[in-house]
Amino acid sequence: NWTMDDFIDQQIEQIRKTVGNKKVLLGLSGGVDSSVTGVLLHKAIGTQLTSIFVDHGLLRKNEADQVMASLEGKFGLNIIKVDAQKRFLDKLAGVDDPEKKRKIIGNEFIRVFDDEAAKLNGGFDFLAQGTLYTDVIESGTDTAQTIKSHHNVGGLPKDVDFKLIEPLRTLFKDEVRELGEKLGMPHSLVWRQPFPGPGLAIRVIGAVTPEKLTIVRDSDAILRDEIAKAGLDKEIWQYFTVLPGFKSVGVMGDGRTYDYTVGIRAVTSIDGMTADFAKIPWDVLQKISVRIVNEVDNVNRVVYDITSKPPATIEWE
Ligand code: XMP
Repeated sequence: NWTMDDFIDQQIEQIRKTVGNKKVLLGLSGGVDSSVTGVLLHKAIGTQLTSIFVDHGLLRKNEADQVMASLEGKFGLNIIKVDAQKRFLDKLAGVDDPEKKRKIIGNEFIRVFDDEAAKLNGGFDFLAQGTLYTDVIESGTDTAQTIKSHHNVGGLPKDVDFKLIEPLRTLFKDEVRELGEKLGMPHSLVWRQPFPGPGLAIRVIGAVTPEKLTIVRDSDAILRDEIAKAGLDKEIWQYFTVLPGFKSVGVMGDGRTYDYTVGIRAVTSIDGMTADFAKIPWDVLQKISVRIVNEVDNVNRVVYDITSKPPATIEWE
């Protein structure tokens, strides 16, 4: 009769046995999996764990601060936060192909991580990852790629042959959330909606600029606020804004405006493979629309995406 309490005890014992008095390095993304991995490892080995949190500047509003406040502030993890926004923006400048954007972000992520890891002078023996059971059974996933790249891409001393620690590799997502709750992690972190690794970069359609990122980030924050206020955050799988990048005519006061359109995407889904657009009540949508146009500069129109997946995808890129 398997319980989560047993799992925690067993894992802590196992981690201590494996690690001994050696050091462990963890890459934090701000997502559920790596955060739970961090808190579990910290419970097992405390200061023998060092985490690197690469802030690529493509996270949602206040997200990086919330991760730091919770994992460092509340749980006491030792986190090296790398502000790499400029590095990512420079690499992304002028790139409008979605897959190229993804590749650039993935590669740069590993480079920044490796650069930071190299500064630790090989002072660690284990690399921890928040690999889940679904990552294990789906061969050729991002996780496998990351591991592979870690062995190939520079930065790390060549003779460091660190071993992997993946304490979540027998768990499904819902079990990871249960584990997070048992470990006392905040609801907002444990029940976070899925967020893609390339972050807001794939919600700015076409080339990413700081101005466009600001529009997506600020409008997304308003959407999330209103969805939470309406009590809909649990039943909608993902909800976010996108910036298609075209301008259209509007009117404000006595003047004509020519500004951006923001798209709202909200879907219900079981696993992200198929999805229906969420039937958000009109009055909630209206509130969101009014707030976005009033509070976000350079926006004069808001549209709601009423396509399901298939034929559309959840993200617009
Ligand atoms: P789509 O847009 O393909 O998205 O319907 C399905 C789910 O996958 C997420 N997604 C990504 N996650 N890196 C990620 O880590 C990516 O490049 C990526 N693209 C899409 C998307 O948010 C949704 O949950």
